Amino acid sequence: MTSPAVWASGLRKRYGRRQAVDGVTFEVGRGEVVGLLGPNGAGKTTVIKMLLGLVRPDAGEVMLLGRPGTDPGSRARVGYLPELFRYQPWLTAAEVLRLHTRLASTAVPEAEQRECLGLVGLADRAGDRVGGFSKGMQQRLGLAVALVARPELVVLDEPTSALDPIGRADVRDLLLSLRERDVAVLLNSHLIGEVERVCDRVVILDHGRVATSGTLAELLGQRELRLRLEGVTPAAESRMGDHRREGDTFVVPIGDLDEVPDLVAELVKLGVRVHAVEPGRITLEERLLDIIRGGEAA
Ligand SMILES: Nc1ncnc2c1ncn2[C@@H]1O[C@H](COP(=O)(O)OP(=O)(O)O)[C@@H](O)[C@H]1O
Ligand SMILES: [Mg+2]
Repeated sequence: MTSPAVWASGLRKRYGRRQAVDGVTFEVGRGEVVGLLGPNGAGKTTVIKMLLGLVRPDAGEVMLLGRPGTDPGSRARVGYLPELFRYQPWLTAAEVLRLHTRLASTAVPEAEQRECLGLVGLADRAGDRVGGFSKGMQQRLGLAVALVARPELVVLDEPTSALDPIGRADVRDLLLSLRERDVAVLLNSHLIGEVERVCDRVVILDHGRVATSGTLAELLGQRELRLRLEGVTPAAESRMGDHRREGDTFVVPIGDLDEVPDLVAELVKLGVRVHAVEPGRITLEERLLDIIRGGEAA
C-alpha cells in the first residue's frame, strides 16, 4: 500500500496560555482532495504550518508522501500557498515563478512556467511587475507558485480569500483538474460551498480539535424532515421547541423522526395547517454550524 500524502498524528501547539492545536490526527490519501474547515481561530493555519515544518509542534508527528515532514526530499514534492502571501513587488510574475522554482531547487522549463501562469489566468501578465497587481492577481500568482513544480501534494490556506466569484470558479476548476491528475490537495477555506463542490472528504476543526471528519456523503447523508406549516400560533411555535425555523418551515433532524406523527397531530389540534412533511438534505454549512454550536454548548 502506498503511504498517504499527509499523515498527521497527535499534533499539538500552545501559544502562551492558548492551546491553538490540541491533539489533531488526520490523513490525506494520495490524489484525495480534503477540505480543512472550521471557524476563525480553530487552528487550521497552525495545523498547516506544522505539516510543512513552518511551526514546530509541541507534540505529534507528521509524514508527507511517506517521509518525515522535516525531510527536505518530501518538501520538494509539496506545493504551498500561504494564508498571507506577498511577493517581491519589483519582480515580474515570470520572475517570481523562476525564483521559486530555484528556491525549491527544481528545474522547471520556461515553457512549463509560462503554462502554469496561463493555468491561473495570468498568461498576459507574465512580464508585468507584481507591485501593480491586485490582491486577487497576487493570489493567482501564489497558486502558480504552489503548482509550478508539479507537486504530488498541494496545501492551500484560504486560496480564494482575495478572489472575486469568477476567480473562485477558476480555482474550483483548477482543483478539479488537480484531482484528475491524482494530485492530493489539502484545502483550508471558509467558503463552505466551495469546499462542498470540490472535496472528497472534510476535516472539521473546532477549538484546536477534530470535531468531525468524513466524506461529504457521510456528513450530509444524515437527513432531516421539513414541515411546511401555515398559521403558526405562539402555542404551536412553543410546541416546536428548538426545531429550526425557516419562514413557514420547521426543520426536524432525523434523530427526532419518531415524534413526527404526534407532532403533526398536535399541530393540527392547535389550528395549524400542515402543507407538507418532506425530506430535506442538510447542507455542509448547516452541518458545520450544528457542530460548532454543539461544541460551544458542551
Ligand atoms: N504566532 C502565534 N502567536 C500566538 N498565537 C497564535 C499564533 N498563531 C496562531 N495563534 C492563535 O492560535 C489560534 C489558532 O490560530 P489559527 O491556526 O491561525 O486559526 P485558523 O487558521 O483556524 O483561523 C488562534 O487563537 C490564534 O490567535
Ligand atoms: Mg487561518
